[in-house]
Order: sequence, then structure tokens, then C-alpha cells
Amino acid sequence: MSKVPVICVDGPSGAGKGTLSTRLAEAFGWHLLDSGALYRIVGYACELRDISWQDEAQVVEVAKALDVRFLPSPSGVSVWLAGEDVTTRIRSQEGSRGASAVAVLPKVRLALLDRQRKLATLPGLVADGRDMGTVVFPEAPLKIFLTASAEARAHRRQAQLLEKGESVSLPRLLESINERDERDTNRSASPLVAANDAILIDSSTLSINAVCNRVFELAASKGLVARSPN
Ligand code: C5P
Repeated sequence: MSKVPVICVDGPSGAGKGTLSTRLAEAFGWHLLDSGALYRIVGYACELRDISWQDEAQVVEVAKALDVRFLPSPSGVSVWLAGEDVTTRIRSQEGSRGASAVAVLPKVRLALLDRQRKLATLPGLVADGRDMGTVVFPEAPLKIFLTASAEARAHRRQAQLLEKGESVSLPRLLESINERDERDTNRSASPLVAANDAILIDSSTLSINAVCNRVFELAASKGLVARSPN
């Protein structure tokens, strides 16, 4: 594997991985891999073509042929599928369901592996997902497993959705988070699990700034960056 420094940020949905990864990538000037977006796009692309999320052979074809672009936008990164801005669409509850349905298929995961590894280019990569440290970048010098209680995650997700004008009840969100955790943790292909050498951070009672500062310090202590940005 290459000498490009990679920081893996794995953990369950809603633990704050996206915010942490974005801030790390911005602070260090590194590339960012939002691997969840890839699974979300595959789910959505299947929906567009009327392909069942369970039809592994066809979903693999969709995954291999994905024409996807991640472009900088005022609100962070926008995601484009074959010329269509799908950023909002793939972040919906339906988008989450599709992603976790196609993510259980081993051949689909395999089809996306190279695409993800190719993003590890200089000066470095922050990789956000579930299996970054265990499967995609097992030799990464810094692996974070960011977790939080299901309740804390449901509250955060509700606030995010409300910001986008989508209103979902807390019990429904909690149910969907528990369902997704269950499916992500118990699938046989690349289940959600901390790598042996991952550093566990529980963000239930920590602010995002506190989490970021801790990871900045870890990156600096490993010599991945010159010093901690404040
Ligand atoms: O991170 P995000 O919530 O966008 O991921 C959506 C879904 O994609 C997850 O619930 C999980 O099922 C799947 N996923 C995965 N492996 C990854 C990233 C996401 O299985 N590396």
C-alpha cells in the first residue's frame, strides 16, 4: 500500500464522523473520502433504473459504472451523479435505507474498493466510513472509531433533518438508527467493527470541537501533521 498518509474515521451513523472528517481534511488540506455517499449513490442509481437493492449482480453493474463526482460547494461538498446534483436526495431517510441495503452485498463492496483506494493521494486522505480501518486502508497510521449512544445520535440526526426542512419524529429516528446499526454490525461482509489498532472516542457528551481537538493532537503526535491547528 502507498505511503500516502490516511486517517480513518469509522463508526456508526450520527456519531459525528462527517463533521470530524470534513474539519480534518480542511485543516490539513487533505482529500476527503465520504464512503457512505458512494453506497448512498449506488442505492439511488438502482432506484432510478428500477433495480432491486437485493439483486446483487445488477447492483454490482451499477456500482462499477457509477459516474460520480464530488465537487466543492458553499455548504461543503456536493455529490453529482451523471450530471445531476444528488446531494440532498441521497441524504434522505430513503437514501439511508438504500445505502445500507446495497452495503450488505459483498460483491458491491468489492466493486467499490479500488475506487476508494485510488483516492489516497498526496498530501493525504481522511476516509470516513464503516470499514476504512479494517478493510479499505488497513495500514493507515491513524484510525479513529467514533461512537455515541443511539439517543445522542438520534437527536443530532433530527436537528440535521430539521435544518433541511425534513421533520421526522425522534422515536422513528431512533428505530431507524437501531435498525441500521443492527444491519451494519451483523452483516458478514465488512461489518461495522473497530479495527484492533483504532482509537475509540465516545462523542455522546463531547462537543464536536473537543472531538476535533483530540484527533488533531493524535495526528500531530503521530507526525502526520506538523502541529495541531487550534
Ligand atoms: O455514512 P453514511 O451514513 O452516509 O452511510 C450510509 C450507509 O452506507 C451506512 O449505514 C452503511 O450501511 C453503509 N456504509 C458502509 N460502509 C462504509 C460507509 C457506509 O457499509 N464504508
